[in-house]
Amino acid sequence: MEKDKKLWGGRFKEGVSDICQDISESISFDSALYEQDIKASMAHVSMLEKQKIISSVIAEKINKGLLQIKHEIKNNEMEFKAELEDIHMHIEKRLIEIVGEEGKFLHTGRSRNDQVAVDTHLFLKENILKHKTDLKKLLWTVLNLAEKHKKDLWAGYTHTQIAQPVLLGHYLMAYFWMFHRDLNLLEFSLDESDCSPLGAAALGGANYPINREFTAQELGFKKVYQNSMDAVSNRDYQMSYHFFAARLFIHISRFCEDIILYNSVEFSYIKLGDRVTTGSSIMPQKKNPDIAELLRGKSARVIGNLQSLLINLKGLPLTYNRDLQEDKVYLMDTIKQVSLGIGGIIEILNHVTFFPDRVRENLRRGFSQATDIADYLVSNYNVSFRNAHEMTGRMVLFCENKKITLDEITHEDILTVWGNEWNSFQLSGDLLKLESCIERKQGTGSTSYKELEIQIQAAKKLLM
Ligand code: ARG
Repeated sequence: MEKDKKLWGGRFKEGVSDICQDISESISFDSALYEQDIKASMAHVSMLEKQKIISSVIAEKINKGLLQIKHEIKNNEMEFKAELEDIHMHIEKRLIEIVGEEGKFLHTGRSRNDQVAVDTHLFLKENILKHKTDLKKLLWTVLNLAEKHKKDLWAGYTHTQIAQPVLLGHYLMAYFWMFHRDLNLLEFSLDESDCSPLGAAALGGANYPINREFTAQELGFKKVYQNSMDAVSNRDYQMSYHFFAARLFIHISRFCEDIILYNSVEFSYIKLGDRVTTGSSIMPQKKNPDIAELLRGKSARVIGNLQSLLINLKGLPLTYNRDLQEDKVYLMDTIKQVSLGIGGIIEILNHVTFFPDRVRENLRRGFSQATDIADYLVSNYNVSFRNAHEMTGRMVLFCENKKITLDEITHEDILTVWGNEWNSFQLSGDLLKLESCIERKQGTGSTSYKELEIQIQAAKKLLM
């Protein structure tokens, strides 16, 4: 083959210009697909042989050559060149070098359109399976931590203002359920990826008696696309995956935001260990939560990759258009970020210390038992909730002015704020104890000790 001649060069008189070559090439990122490409080519060759479309002699030679190429790429022995565009061309060109003329039978009844599609389906499937293992590990990490802290107090916030006391285990379990829903989305995107486009060829199917079910089975796919045009142009399975990743990263990012806040001197609710923090080049005292910040920052690019794919696809006419080559840039980046994100959160959770006593102080300063006082008036003194709300509000205002906490109110204070007719009011011993506020909560999913235990057991059952 002449130096400049492409494998598709028959109808061309000259090669593309340098700048166009740089725009065209995808080898700089799709070389990551080499194993999937070779695996799919071998399944294709076995099918061609089985269907008597090529001879056994040729099939055997091609498959041997493909295995050699796999070995060469693995050992970094293949030089990747922009002029050969993509991984498919590199492998086919090398095959022809090794096998000779017979190598040219490989591309029978196949197009790069179904080839790149099958490679990407395989690639994503393999990575989703890895993510599944990682995500389950994260779920266990959160669950074990929640169990360890099922009796420790924590602060529940709304508007970043102290709201009500909760259990630290309960707070952690909120993230468990978010990540668990992400696992469900991941399963869905796995199911969508588990479909073989191979055999759709350019767009309309092949002019040979191919067997798509055979290649699908060889490659471990559950099903085949029922429409060849859909098979080569579909990127829905990637959209689903990107949506999973974007949502996962929103959860990771919110968790990181909590961690960054709680780790500040102002909160001091948690302390991050040396292994998940970094120092400042000028301020010697600093120990910054960079890893949590970076995960929060990475959510931007993961969400961006989802956007990029959606925008890439929105105006594309059927079927294959070269724009689709870009999909792998978004996909490969997001796959990498997802595995860093899950691994990073696990690492942070393995190196964090919680300080519930410091939280207790703020719960008192933040009048977090106020709802319990109002509810106590409703349950024991026949006061309507609205009036109880108003009375408790006046009590909080009084405490604020007197610079005391709710659990420091005296009987005299009650008469001052609510009037002498409340003389018979009994401030029950544990009404304002933070633990009692927890204990009092009722209903499935509440933060009571009892309900948290039920929640943890249900979560365990789901994972086992
Ligand atoms: N590198 C290409 C891609 O990733 C392979 C498919 C090329 N197909 C074509 N008709 N030019 O999309």
